[in-house]
Amino acid sequence: MTEIRILLADNDQRHRESLTVELREGAGFEVFPAASPEEARKILKDRLIHLAIVNLRLVDDEDENDRSGLDLCGEIDPMVARVLLTGHPTAETARQALQITDGRDPVANGYLSKTNDSLEEKLKVVKGVLDAHFEIIPRDRFAVLTSGGDSPGMNAAIWAVVRAAMARKIEVIGVEDGYRGLYEGRFHKLRWGSLTEHMTRGGTFLGSARFKEFRDNDALHEKALQRLLNAHVSGLVVIGGDGSMQGAKALAARAGDKLRTVALPGTIDNDLYGTDMTLGAGSAGNAIVRELENMMPPAHAMRRIFVCEVMGRYSGFLALDAGLCVGADAILIPEKVIKMKPKRPDKIDRIASAEELNSQIDEIVERLERAFLGGQRHALVVFSEGIRKLIGKDRKDVRERMEERMEEWPEDIRPDIRTQLLGYTIRGVRPERFDLRIGIMLGSAAVKALVDGRNNVMVGWSYEHGVTKTDFDEITAKGKRPPAEILEERSKWKQFLELHETMVAPPRK
Ligand code: F6P
Repeated sequence: MTEIRILLADNDQRHRESLTVELREGAGFEVFPAASPEEARKILKDRLIHLAIVNLRLVDDEDENDRSGLDLCGEIDPMVARVLLTGHPTAETARQALQITDGRDPVANGYLSKTNDSLEEKLKVVKGVLDAHFEIIPRDRFAVLTSGGDSPGMNAAIWAVVRAAMARKIEVIGVEDGYRGLYEGRFHKLRWGSLTEHMTRGGTFLGSARFKEFRDNDALHEKALQRLLNAHVSGLVVIGGDGSMQGAKALAARAGDKLRTVALPGTIDNDLYGTDMTLGAGSAGNAIVRELENMMPPAHAMRRIFVCEVMGRYSGFLALDAGLCVGADAILIPEKVIKMKPKRPDKIDRIASAEELNSQIDEIVERLERAFLGGQRHALVVFSEGIRKLIGKDRKDVRERMEERMEEWPEDIRPDIRTQLLGYTIRGVRPERFDLRIGIMLGSAAVKALVDGRNNVMVGWSYEHGVTKTDFDEITAKGKRPPAEILEERSKWKQFLELHETMVAPPRK
């Protein structure tokens, strides 16, 4: 075994020096001797130690009540393997160390007697503890977190981060509940098999949270950074959406060269610059298609129009993509509705946007009237929740405006309208093949990027180039553009919209 770093905390100078030599020369371990709890703590703080060998009476060998070694073992991070050493071996000291009496987590994973054990026996204990404690002997440690809205494929990405890192002898710790768990220091080691049962499931195994305060609070960033540095983490993988990128960028700015941060896009909204698809958008899109299909039979049977609001935050992708795929009669997305103030192109003009929305709804109603006069008996209108979020609540909703305009229709062709909201049931679906695949590719690319020394970048997915890398600065800056500009850049979306528009106009004689 090589590259194994051992802390030897022993106040008995002679024994400490001889055991240090034995461990170095007998087994090739890297040994860091400490003569007191304080020295031991400093070594543990400064280095990624694999195993701590700690003398039970670490302050005063003559004092029967000295438990300082046990106390030190109790405070050492459980990711470090611990062996208790004593010159006063009794069944009681062994029991205390291993806590076999009450079934609690052991303070130590092994037990060594200074007086009785030969070098061979000592090495057997040390190697046995290392073997039981570690799947790999890590040369470095990364952390992974999922933040913001969960999305299908996140588990596959975490799985890939763990596997890609462990293949390079890097240990991975999972952070619970996103940046909140990071700030609170809620970490646990992820094992080779931790994700096996979860990788093809929706949601995120690590938990997630919205922690808006994290975006621009220096004190929170500092605390989170210290938590990572104290755990000897040198690389962080963030999986999340737009808000998560802002958090990652802020953290990276504070960390300087102490920590590298790489992100990957995990959100159903598909609203991030630097990737053609975000993780989860494909599966959520498929789920929406199935839900919309299921609305058709009742719509047909009952001669109804279904008006369906689809999640996606400020992005129209899900509404547009799914609406096109099921031949929806109309699709309303923020990119085509939202107007900016002429003199403040960074600010939404809510009045002009509401007028634009009304005029698009009026056009839809006119078009549908022609279709219903021509014999159509049901219809589907899909709109993105972003419209409602961006314009504000104090305006008529899509259904109300439609009903108002439809009052002018001949009564015998006027259908009922029903509304449907597609939200969490489409976000929580199982990831489909595409998201599993990009989850695995991006998770593994994130690890490789960290190993290659990359920092401050998001790994994304391009249909043309495969895995891409884009700086956080560029992503957050481009995310702030007016919706219409985003549509200009997303040529595929524009194509979808044009296709939809040419296909839903009823024929004219
Ligand atoms: O970002 C994913 C998303 O599902 C959006 O589509 C939606 O607007 C938002 O999250 C809902 O957020 P929350 O689950 O925090 O209410």
